[in-house]
Amino acid sequence: MASPALICSTQPWEDLKAHVEDLKGTHLRDLMGDADRCRSMMVEFDGILLDYSRQRATVDTVDQLLKLAEAASLKEKIHHMFNGKRINSTENRSVLHVALRAPRDAVICSDGKNVVPDVWDVLDKIKAFSERVRSGAWVGATGKALKDVIAVGIGGSFLGPLFVHTALQTDPVASEHARGRQLRFLANVDPIDVARNLTGLCPETSLVVVVSKTFTTAETMLNARTLREWISSALGPDAVAKHMVAVSTNLPLVEKFGIDPKNAFAFWDWVGGRYSVCSAVGVLPLSLQYGFSVVENFLKGAYSIDQHFSSTSLEKNIPVLLGLLSVWNVSFLGYPARAILPYSQALEKFAPHIQQVSMESNGKGVSIDGEPLPYVTGEIDFGEPGTNGQHSFYQLIHQGRVIPCDFIGVVKSQQPVYLKGEIVNNHDELMSNFFAQPDALAYGKTSEQLQKENVQQNLVPHKTFTGNRPSLSILLPALTAYNIGQLLAIYEHRVAVQGFIWGINSFDQWGVELGKSLATQVRKQLHASRVKREPIEGFNYSTTTLLTKYLEATSDVPADPPSILPNI
Ligand code: F6P
Repeated sequence: MASPALICSTQPWEDLKAHVEDLKGTHLRDLMGDADRCRSMMVEFDGILLDYSRQRATVDTVDQLLKLAEAASLKEKIHHMFNGKRINSTENRSVLHVALRAPRDAVICSDGKNVVPDVWDVLDKIKAFSERVRSGAWVGATGKALKDVIAVGIGGSFLGPLFVHTALQTDPVASEHARGRQLRFLANVDPIDVARNLTGLCPETSLVVVVSKTFTTAETMLNARTLREWISSALGPDAVAKHMVAVSTNLPLVEKFGIDPKNAFAFWDWVGGRYSVCSAVGVLPLSLQYGFSVVENFLKGAYSIDQHFSSTSLEKNIPVLLGLLSVWNVSFLGYPARAILPYSQALEKFAPHIQQVSMESNGKGVSIDGEPLPYVTGEIDFGEPGTNGQHSFYQLIHQGRVIPCDFIGVVKSQQPVYLKGEIVNNHDELMSNFFAQPDALAYGKTSEQLQKENVQQNLVPHKTFTGNRPSLSILLPALTAYNIGQLLAIYEHRVAVQGFIWGINSFDQWGVELGKSLATQVRKQLHASRVKREPIEGFNYSTTTLLTKYLEATSDVPADPPSILPNI
């Protein structure tokens, strides 16, 4: 018997389980023929259209999901989040990333203190600093302007900023502001990533931004020490003050590392790593590249969705509907994965970012009160921009496993191309696919249709598409900084809604700790074996064998080497 506190013990959960049976006889081909149903499954807000008519759901399903939301106290939980309640109970923290994009005069409190003025103090500092760097008022140790930025960070201190940077790169306004500048991201502790990032850069004209909430993450700190060596070996140790700045909640460790606290940009423990792109984590590197005004528009777009999320009734609330439908797909229809398919190359880093936001948030095995869950939470998120994905994994989506898909389209291309004599312009060609794929999945193709087309008999089973494969479509008016902010916030809140319904803590991440501590044990062993020739001890047969092979094959690695940096 599941605990009465769990959502699966409620009547709406039971009703939805039974309701799955009602849907067994329906096919999306038929559901899509009901125009009233389809009309009721479209929601518009601030230029964005969500069409969820291709979900395996009826109007009744949506009603029942809304009842589930009520049973899960969804409204109250959203309210608690916006009001600074410590909903991240295992870390005893509030969850206030919405405060990062609130206007200057907003009031959002954590522990009774309005945090918005602190947020704007940092934003103002970023604005002033980025303008000095961009204008050449802030110069490097040899008097040269700093035109290239390397942001060093991993996980939430990397994926969100990379997504936004990639999305802005071809926006006409943003790209004009970025002329002559480069922004790179060093995330992986793999020295190959160092080599790739440093290629073509010169310490004299580079600024390193070390981004780490904790300032203890092993990968980031080793990469930061590596780039500190890159700067100081070329320009002398005093150059670090001019060429390295930091973003962190841990300012004492920033100072200890050797970065002037005046050049540190703070954020707060109420900002989760994967929800931190709207803090200095994203705003500093992006402002250095694109100027603060562009990034401010990104924050405004996110704020618009925050307002919508916190104040719109549940049945017209885009993140709420998306979250409820994901719960429906995972917990009731049993679909374990979700494909995020933006029809825009500019959104190529969106799925990797949402992978962390979603999977680190909702991949949990116990309830917020620590009870083992009798149902699964989270889904396996993956994705690629269309049309590239169509020539890769769509085969499986069309004829293999059922994977609910998010199709994300953009009305106005950032970079239109027209060719004389072509039937359609290049963006129309892309969008033809965006409009066609959801119907291919929903309707499929029957053997009768194939027979009418005189398809060779033995190929009929191979060319049949069962259809009835759910998807939803999100149409954005354009892909400006503002729209990018909207899209980000929609997905952040959708993930929170899922977690609120499942009754888990979507804001902690204990699951990443075990691997980290085991790596510490291996690191100690590698050091002891290389430096003191100590035997391998304390590992199982498999790891001992692998380590032995690794150490034997690299016995020429010096125990106490001088600093060597990549050389390509
Ligand atoms: O992977 C675990 C994690 O803690 C993420 O949640 C976080 O985004 C990332 O590491 C980086 O952490 P930090 O910003 O403290 O370096």
